[in-house]
Amino acid sequence: MLSIENYQEEFVTYLEAYVTRKEPENLYAPINYILGLGGKRLRPVLTLMTADIFNSEYKHALNAALSIEVFHNFSLVHDDIMDDAPLRRGKETVHEKWDVNTGILSGDAMLIMAYQLFENYDAYTFQELAKLFSRTALKVCEGQQYDVDFETRDDVTIAEYLKMIEYKTAVLVGAAMQMGAIVAKASAKDQELIYHFGKNLGIAFQLQDDYLDAFGDPKTFGKQVGGDIIENKKTYLYLKAQEFLNDSEVLELQHLFSIDVVDASEKVKTVKELFVSSGAAEATKVAIVDYTNKAFQVLDDLDITDDKKVLLRDFGNSLMNRNV
Ligand code: IPE
Ligand code: IPE
Ligand code: MG
Ligand code: MG
Ligand code: MG
Repeated sequence: MLSIENYQEEFVTYLEAYVTRKEPENLYAPINYILGLGGKRLRPVLTLMTADIFNSEYKHALNAALSIEVFHNFSLVHDDIMDDAPLRRGKETVHEKWDVNTGILSGDAMLIMAYQLFENYDAYTFQELAKLFSRTALKVCEGQQYDVDFETRDDVTIAEYLKMIEYKTAVLVGAAMQMGAIVAKASAKDQELIYHFGKNLGIAFQLQDDYLDAFGDPKTFGKQVGGDIIENKKTYLYLKAQEFLNDSEVLELQHLFSIDVVDASEKVKTVKELFVSSGAAEATKVAIVDYTNKAFQVLDDLDITDDKKVLLRDFGNSLMNRNV
């Protein structure tokens, strides 16, 4: 087993060799741009780590890890168009630097490249990876559509929200781990357990993404702080605030989330105050811990050595302490 940092380094070296200049420039330059912008490389690290955990050699999982990261970056390019986001990893988003059409086509190409990477595996592994990938990618699309649909609804429930984030984010984290297990030819039971570990970690991860979107430090966060509030996203923060606030405050919050404001800074400030005063900010932090612990519970049933469980726990705990 390697340390998290070493998995990251090995992955980035592999990614850099994969990213080459190709024609047409306006198709491939945005792809190289987004893939080179960095990011936490969370999903590919999980793929590599999981392959090692199930007694394979992490190097066998490099193409699966790359596939997951290329897909993730594709989803970010399209997500930033859908969310009208100006910033990604501290830099201009693809559709701002180029334009929306470029973002759409470069994103499409990345989705195809992600599939193509499975060709590096034997027929059986290819099929298993592709089946999981298709199932997962479709859920991501469904989650993204719910996310957009919720922007204009005022009756979204916590259960609907949780399903939405499970689909748009958590299933990919689960699949990243299961892919490592598939490459390592782990048993069906172990594959399922590690998928559920990743899925619960992914739910905690998206809850925290929502928290940081409102309360992150603009200097380090790398995205537009308050972006979800500006876009009227029905996050856990919003839903819990709605649950905890009194009637007149709820009306104020709902009003703020039904208008398009010219100067968003006042709206963001007021909404953040309501998120804090209502106790929604605190409740979100509790939910992040709860879902992380739910992931850890899965570890009890996994038949792997304790030192490997410690590594997975450390990874989960490090995610909770992140500020990007
Ligand atoms: C951003 O994912 C999209 C979400 C699912 C919240 P990450 O926070 O993993 O983004 P990078 O790759 O580290 O930039
Ligand atoms: C992103 O959710 C989920 C996918 C990209 C599929 P967000 O819209 O919250 O992600 P960020 O905050 O832009 O990274
Ligand atoms: Mg977004
Ligand atoms: Mg989004
Ligand atoms: Mg977000």
